[in-house]
Order: sequence, then C-alpha cells, then structure tokens
Amino acid sequence: MYRTEIHRQLSPRLRDQVDHLIHRVWSFESRENGDVQVLAQATGGVLDPLDHLSLHVLILDRAGLLVGYGRIAVTQLADSRAEILRELELPTYLNAISSETTIAYISRLVVDPAHRGRGIASMIHQTRIKLANHLGADAIYGWAVGEKPRHALSQFGFAEVLERDGFSTPWYRTDRTTRLVKLDLSPAAKSEIETMRMASSN
Ligand SMILES: CC(C)(COP(=O)(O)OP(=O)(O)OC[C@H]1O[C@@H](n2cnc3c(N)ncnc32)[C@H](O)[C@@H]1OP(=O)(O)O)[C@@H](O)C(=O)NCCC(=O)NCCS
Repeated sequence: MYRTEIHRQLSPRLRDQVDHLIHRVWSFESRENGDVQVLAQATGGVLDPLDHLSLHVLILDRAGLLVGYGRIAVTQLADSRAEILRELELPTYLNAISSETTIAYISRLVVDPAHRGRGIASMIHQTRIKLANHLGADAIYGWAVGEKPRHALSQFGFAEVLERDGFSTPWYRTDRTTRLVKLDLSPAAKSEIETMRMASSN
C-alpha cells in the first residue's frame, strides 16, 4: 500500500513536496494541539546545509503522493561531521560524540495526518536504522520532540541522552519536551541487545 524511496538528492520538485508536507504537518499540529507555533510558509528551497549531506526517505501512497518523510545524515557520506554536530547544538556533549568514528543524525520526521497510525513512522525509522548500519555508523542521534516520537524511538532501542524544553526549526517552534536520543550500533552494543533478546525469548 505504501512505497519507500531513498534519495541521495532531492530534485526541486521533490523538495517542494517535502517542504509542503512538513508545513502541512506542523500547521495541523498547531491547530490540533496548540503547543506548536508555525513559523514559515512553504518555500520550496533547501532549508539547511544538511539537505545536501543526507539520504532522504520518502513514503508514497498508492497514487504516488508523498505521505511521510524523514532524513538521515551520516558523517561517512560526506564531510558532514561539522554540520551534524552543529545541528546537535551540544557543545558540552561534543567530546563524547567525536570519540565515535561515524555518527548518523536523523531529523525531520513527518507523517501526513490522514495516514497516521499505520506504521509509516516505523517504516521510516526502520529504513534509517538499516541505512545507518549499512553505512557503518557507530551510533544514531536525533531529537525526539514530544512524547509520541520518544515512545516510538525507545521501542527501536534508542536511549535518552538529555532532555530540554522546546525545539525550533525553520518551520515551527514548540514547547514540547524534547530529548536527545541515541541508538548505539557498535558491535558490542548489538551483541548485548541480541543476548538480551535471546534471554527474553527463552
Ligand atoms: C509522530 C508521527 C511521525 C507518527 O507517525 P505515524 O506514522 O502515525 O506513526 P506509526 O503509525 O508508525 O506509529 C504510531 C502508532 O500507530 C501504531 N501502529 C503502527 N502500525 C499500525 C497499524 N498497522 N495499525 C494500527 N496501529 C498501528 C503504532 O503502534 C503506534 O502506536 P503507539 O503510539 O502506541 O506506539 C506523526 O504523528 C507526526 O507526523 N507528528 C507530527 C510531527 C512530529 O511530531 N514529528 C516527530 C518530530 S521528532
């Protein structure tokens, strides 16, 4: 019913569609929940430097319409380390992060309100984790804005690193509690997770 596409670059047409989806989603959140302030109208442009350095995960419905989107940047793909660390906005945490050779950063998860609760966000999470593994990342970082993403990411094994009040992007600002979350992909962490899985299934 849904199709996943991975794009290394977004064409101007796709960029426009992504921009409209993000704007539509956060306008909806603002109307429904009141804890989001929408900042920008759709611009159709590249909105931050990580766009050039990311793999873009698009979910399309049967008619080919974009209904879900998320992106992932991996330091190995390009010289994106500085941009990723800037996005993480965490000077005090930089030492810990820079000791890892390859890090991935996930961002911009949005699902069309009319298509929610059908596992689209999960599809995007799964695809991004596979990509990070495939590209040899040692860990994935991301901001979980609010409770739903926090819960979903914890189900994929993400641990909370720190918590802060609010989050802002070119599209929106929100007071929602936001957590920096991390999924450790190092071989040691993976074998530990496997051991735990085997123990719990026995
Ligand atoms: C958060 C968001 C991305 C979730 O998208 P989604 O596609 O509805 O998420 P999923 O369908 O994968 O999961 C949502 C719930 O539906 C359930 N679900 C998944 N597949 C399902 C299915 N086939 N049938 C019924 N329920 C299902 C999941 O278990 C989950 O339930 P839970 O909250 O109890 O864990 C979406 O609500 C959104 O765009 N919100 C606004 C933007 C936002 O907050 N972005 C994240 C910023 S970090």
